[in-house]
Amino acid sequence: MDVQALNFEKIKRLMLGFTAFQTLVAGCRLGVFTTLAKHPGCDRKELAAHLELSEHATRVLLLGCCTYELVTKTDGLYYNSSMSEQFLTDESMFPIIGFTEYCEVVQYKPFQLLTESLKADTNLGLQLLPGTGEGLYKRLAENPELERTFQRGMAPNDRGSRQLLFDAKEFADVHRLLDVAGGPGLIAGLLKEDHPQLEITLVDLPSVCEEASAAFAKSGSTDLHVHPGDIFVDDFPTGMDAIMFSHILEVFAEEKIIFLLEKAFDALPEGGKIFIYGMACDDDESGADMAAWGSLYFMVLASGEGMMYPVPDYRRWLTAAGFSDIVERTNDFENMIIIASK
Ligand SMILES: C[S@@+](CC[C@H](N)C(=O)[O-])C[C@H]1O[C@@H](n2cnc3c(N)ncnc32)[C@H](O)[C@@H]1O
Repeated sequence: MDVQALNFEKIKRLMLGFTAFQTLVAGCRLGVFTTLAKHPGCDRKELAAHLELSEHATRVLLLGCCTYELVTKTDGLYYNSSMSEQFLTDESMFPIIGFTEYCEVVQYKPFQLLTESLKADTNLGLQLLPGTGEGLYKRLAENPELERTFQRGMAPNDRGSRQLLFDAKEFADVHRLLDVAGGPGLIAGLLKEDHPQLEITLVDLPSVCEEASAAFAKSGSTDLHVHPGDIFVDDFPTGMDAIMFSHILEVFAEEKIIFLLEKAFDALPEGGKIFIYGMACDDDESGADMAAWGSLYFMVLASGEGMMYPVPDYRRWLTAAGFSDIVERTNDFENMIIIASK
């Protein structure tokens, strides 16, 4: 393919990106991928009956699904693509249906205010969510259904997407872990399964701690606790030998990150560890997809500040806060874990 034809292919994916995303949303909501997982090799008529759609609606939906490589068609019969098997069925090792729903319900309309948010240098998209709370998380706390959609999307009930975190061998030396802004407790519960010696205290906003508390009670473990509070206002609980920040520091501007790292340093004993888990852009800030999405999402909606910072920024901040022995690992999903000691 010559350069002009190749460029046309690429620009179409951008110009019509909304079509691709809405095809994905419709496929998930209508159950195309879960249906094809149960009934591989349906023809169009059978699929229309399963999905309770007209044959014409099924025809155009399948055209979209095949175009975006969500579904394959062989001899008139439809199958999930290997990509859909990996991400979009009940058995997927890395499910993204919840995240897709979060993108659709909470982010899609605010993203239409990206230009205005960039010009105003603040998250104007937040106006589209009901309530008065400052920042996305306090706004979500006023909208329980949206908060559940957020939590289901951000912390899917799987290990696949977080293996880099759970596999960190440095957890073996930790007994009392503080999980800062830990969300509804899923990550703490999975960490506890892999590292049974851990006693974990999760700090988050009161409405989120209620959910985490219910999840911990259900797990039957007496080593999982909640500590409701605002991480910028309230002291961290004492007596911890490690502190974890998972998918939280990147939401904030540099000065707030430095504040939280210094606060963690002060709360830890000599030799205490810090774990930072999240997403990072390339060191030279020329990619990649998840980092671009996350950074623009913070800009337009979550905080109006922050970004998926490159790993060297964290190294610099950790050193300035007094931490040493910094180790970092990254994976193909743009995740990073950085571990350091006091
Ligand atoms: C992106 S989620 C990350 C949740 C979890 N750590 C994870 O890795 O999935 C961010 C979390 O930070 C919490 N949070 C945001 N601002 C906070 C604040 N000022 N004080 C306490 N928690 C906060 C939110 O309620 C939310 O649960």
